[in-house]
Amino acid sequence: MKFLNDELAKTLTGKRVLVRVDWNVPCQDGKITDTTRLVNTRDTLELLRTHGAKVIILAHYGRPTLAKKEFKEPKATTDLRIAEDAFSFKPLLDEIQSILGFDLGFCEDPISAEGFDQIYEMQNGDAVLCENIRFFGAEEANDTMFAIALSACADIYINEAFSCSHRAHASVEAIAHHLPSYAGIGLAREVSYLNDAFINPKRPLWVVVGGSKVSTKIDLLLNLSQKVDGLIIGGAMANTFFKAKGISVGNSLVEDDYVETARAILKAATAKIVLPCDRLAVKELSFTEKMDVISVDFDKVPETHSVFDIGEKSCALFIEKLQGASTIIWNGPVGMFEHDSFTGGSFAIAHALAEATQKGALTLAGGGDTLATLAKAGVMDQLSYCSTAGGAFLECLEGKVLPGIAALG
Ligand code: 3PG
Repeated sequence: MKFLNDELAKTLTGKRVLVRVDWNVPCQDGKITDTTRLVNTRDTLELLRTHGAKVIILAHYGRPTLAKKEFKEPKATTDLRIAEDAFSFKPLLDEIQSILGFDLGFCEDPISAEGFDQIYEMQNGDAVLCENIRFFGAEEANDTMFAIALSACADIYINEAFSCSHRAHASVEAIAHHLPSYAGIGLAREVSYLNDAFINPKRPLWVVVGGSKVSTKIDLLLNLSQKVDGLIIGGAMANTFFKAKGISVGNSLVEDDYVETARAILKAATAKIVLPCDRLAVKELSFTEKMDVISVDFDKVPETHSVFDIGEKSCALFIEKLQGASTIIWNGPVGMFEHDSFTGGSFAIAHALAEATQKGALTLAGGGDTLATLAKAGVMDQLSYCSTAGGAFLECLEGKVLPGIAALG
């Protein structure tokens, strides 16, 4: 995979560089609530601008639907563009500029005549953000004609959007076949950490998987059970594993349709899998009323109660296991971390990873909830690498090849 570096950047003065970023940022009341994805692209954008490249930024925001619907019966692939206000980058432009620290032009439509003129008038070092690329139905269809039309406005393409690289979309995949293509600095860094942690890890390799549903992580669990030395399973998904072992989980969430799958995973990797040995449970979950939280052994959950976190003995057990690891990957909180009564388990994992990093282990965490937990625990900057990618991170751990990465060669 070729990637952007100083040497390449020096050759790009006056060149038009199309950069795909993932600025699909969380927002509340029109304000960006987490700037990490923007900040992570700054190195690439600054390097290009400093060397006088003309930077054309492509990004998506949310999942607009109208353009996609229209595209089911396309007329001309390149001119089907339907804007939806709720998904426009326009209201976020000022905030994005102040986070990046430089001025950004705004291009409504990079393949229109006006858009073309705007891009051709750019000066060296200028940067322009194009409106939500998903306003084109052709984007998600990975349409070749659309990719060719996009490629016409640039000299080279840079993918700086690892977290979108599991999508075979035109600005991620098809375009890379029509321009000289490179990985951005952040994408190359992320791929390198994932390779070190997962493809060629220093062993023992331990993985912590949490979250509520086995159903969303079957491929992940199947692949992990082959590859890792130890697999800690927490979160509500542990309930389905307990049920597969014939152990009651009271009134807790269980995916009955996946009990057989959980049984098969347990059978294939019993020696590697570590489940919680005790759990925190309540009769009724409440965010407003005081609750009577009980701590019980894994096989003593009352029929009337639901489990929302691991207990202290499980924290100690998991910490002990992780202390022996040279590489640790974490995806998914082990309890309902959004509720203050149930942050203990996930915080214990967060601190165990921070400590392991300090002692020389390679530690990697990925996914929105996992990063939110690390931030809440105050140790986000104490791991080797934190990935803002959700789906792309999971697909890597599932052993899949990401189309956007494969297209970079
Ligand atoms: C993400 O937020 O994980 C990426 O931007 C991909 O978004 P998508 O799931 O809407 O394709």
